[in-house]
Amino acid sequence: MTAGDPLFEAFSIGNLRIKNRIIRSSISGRIDNYDGSGTPARIAWEEKFAKGGAGAIITAHVPICVEGRILPNYATLDCDERIPFWSKVVERVEKYDCPIILQLSHSGRQQDIAGFENGDRLPPAASDRIDNFHGLRGREMTIAEIDNTVELFALAAERAVRAGAHGIELHSANGYLFTQFLSGPINDRADEYGGSLKNRARFLLRVIDAIRKRVGPLFPLIVKIAAADHHTAVTPWLFWQGEGNTLEDALLVSKWAEEHGASALHVSVGNIFPHPRNPAGGLPLPEAARLYDVMLSSGEHTIRNYLIFRFAPSLGKFIWDRTTDGIQTEGINLDASEAIRKAVKIPVLCTGGFQTGSFMRKALKDQKCDAFTIARPLIANPDLPQILERGDEVTQKRRCTYCNKCLVHVLEDPLGCYELSRYESYEEMVSSVLDFYKNA
Ligand SMILES: Cc1cc2nc3c(=O)[nH]c(=O)nc-3n(C[C@H](O)[C@H](O)[C@H](O)COP(=O)(O)O)c2cc1C
Ligand code: SF4
Repeated sequence: MTAGDPLFEAFSIGNLRIKNRIIRSSISGRIDNYDGSGTPARIAWEEKFAKGGAGAIITAHVPICVEGRILPNYATLDCDERIPFWSKVVERVEKYDCPIILQLSHSGRQQDIAGFENGDRLPPAASDRIDNFHGLRGREMTIAEIDNTVELFALAAERAVRAGAHGIELHSANGYLFTQFLSGPINDRADEYGGSLKNRARFLLRVIDAIRKRVGPLFPLIVKIAAADHHTAVTPWLFWQGEGNTLEDALLVSKWAEEHGASALHVSVGNIFPHPRNPAGGLPLPEAARLYDVMLSSGEHTIRNYLIFRFAPSLGKFIWDRTTDGIQTEGINLDASEAIRKAVKIPVLCTGGFQTGSFMRKALKDQKCDAFTIARPLIANPDLPQILERGDEVTQKRRCTYCNKCLVHVLEDPLGCYELSRYESYEEMVSSVLDFYKNA
């Protein structure tokens, strides 16, 4: 290790020491069993990043209940039977001095593919409103359902501790259930969970309180937060709905989360997923047209989107890129992260495009965040931490291009890098995408 290199200086979240400032952000793919049990492929998937030198891993979303699942084939933590699987994941990655943090998740209305167990029932959500992009619809939860969901998060947190996980993160950005409560233009509730920002934050803060009671004061609990909603980014014709929560709102929510016991904040952006700013880089067409078909029956706008992707790709690209043209992808959330970091005392993690060592070292020097969470550049180069530790940079040929082909492929295919320009041949790409199955 390079002495004095800020990227490779250890830091702590709660009682957890992390050996460097490079954390694998949530990603996996539909590689677990349909019933929510985990697979050897998932274990091999996580191991690949631990082996590559990541300081810690935040898992992809882990559903706390089947009715709050985003897609089938992701391992859940909705019952005690799932605990031994997560223990195996922990054992496999901690050999590399790489702790693992489970991201506890509830989709709310943002359920891309509900799966047959949920039948035709609408998922429980903060409100009845449909989302602007896919047109996914939820059903406003009753107070009793809110109480029950708080308890489900606390139970899942307890199970994470019993599995030996090193921490948990709340999936509280990017349009899922927590966002649906927090975001002004989404939450239209008339009770104590709607209206003012404090009311809209009540559900998140109750979940933090409930988890803290079960896991003790020091167990790492990260709260992922959208620095701003950018509510109409892909629906400019709905301008009258406004842009939703601002950075000022995020600062308040961050401070409240800290007061209630969050051990760290994780700065993301956007009140839907995907969003032009997350993962930033653009809409891959024609790939999105080919892969979006599995969602056609999920939302009220999916056919509209499919027709645009398929027959009017320039229009699709224009709408998707119109608010991000000219904005640099690497470090897209850094300024917001700096503002949040100044408002709290706990560590602040930042996500969004990081892959250049010199850029990240400068961001640390400028105190813009305490650590970087990385998804796509690590899919492209799982050994990125080792490359940076040697003092090198990723070569131009091997850099992640932020094309987002990995993102749209995940609906149907294993998660991997599908950017052909990074490979010598199609066969090499296939082999690289499937490589983790060999170690399963
Ligand atoms: C295929 C894919 C799956 C993702 N899954 C999740 C997820 O389960 N939970 C989450 O909070 N973020 C998820 N993300 C967002 C990433 O964790 C990350 O925050 C985002 O891609 C920006 O970082 P990057 O530029 O390093 O990719 C996903 C991103 C991709 C590309
Ligand atoms: S497909 Fe590859 S190059 Fe494109 S964003 Fe994903 S990891 Fe990066």
